Amino acid sequence: MSTPAAARVIATPRGQVRLCRDAAALSHAAALYFTEAATQAAGELGRFAVALSGGSTPKALFSLLAGDEFRGRIPWAQAHFFFGDERCVPPDDPQSNYRMAREALLSRAPVPAANVHRMAGEDPDPQRAARRYEEELRAFFGQGLPRFDLVLQGLGEEGHTASLFPGSPVLEESERLVAAPYIDKLHAYRLTLTLPVLNAAARVAFLVEGKNKRAILAQVLYGAATPPLPAQRVRPREGTLLWFVDEEAGADLPREASAQP
Ligand code: 6PG
Repeated sequence: MSTPAAARVIATPRGQVRLCRDAAALSHAAALYFTEAATQAAGELGRFAVALSGGSTPKALFSLLAGDEFRGRIPWAQAHFFFGDERCVPPDDPQSNYRMAREALLSRAPVPAANVHRMAGEDPDPQRAARRYEEELRAFFGQGLPRFDLVLQGLGEEGHTASLFPGSPVLEESERLVAAPYIDKLHAYRLTLTLPVLNAAARVAFLVEGKNKRAILAQVLYGAATPPLPAQRVRPREGTLLWFVDEEAGADLPREASAQP
């Protein structure tokens, strides 16, 4: 099994970047990090609670985790899979983040069915679906803010993450754990974890790849937009924030380890 080249580390104002040669190396580095987080949490807490990101970027990571190189290194029975956000569609819809995760990972690894905590995108009442997911979080984590052991995040070209989009009132949510914002640009509702939950995580890892993310990544990591972009508001209070980036998305990042652009 070839091991892609080690990632180069760049310190930025918004957290450490692990700059990887290409998308395959990014997924491999993220899989190593996922495995490390899962093993540590399962050892220390007896469980590993992860919130999966959606979209297309994490699919290769999910496939790697269920593949020969990583499958035997993850404590599946102790791992609980949640979702950072979901489209308001049925679970078998091509747009469903759950469907992508099920096909790439959850149906290919020995994950107990009870360990998969799906957001009910099919619910015709998104607000009810958000309330019910919040109840599921509280049932698992207990009262207070859920502290995920790992939250995977993606980055949209306009700076959104999870389903927290620029200008959304949900960005100011300070009480609810899960929200169901209407996204004007998508003409659709979404289900999403809110910033209080994301910022309570022990580890947050963004996965950002491809040349179409080059400009927004540099802006998120080094820019000072007012108001801040949604991805800039993910700053775990007592946790680590890492960015797994490929060379295409990271083309505007400084070449030296901790230089400014
Ligand atoms: C979603 C995601 C979203 C995603 C970004 C990046 O449901 O779409 O949760 O936040 O992570 O839009 O998506 P890509 O990885 O497809 O570029």
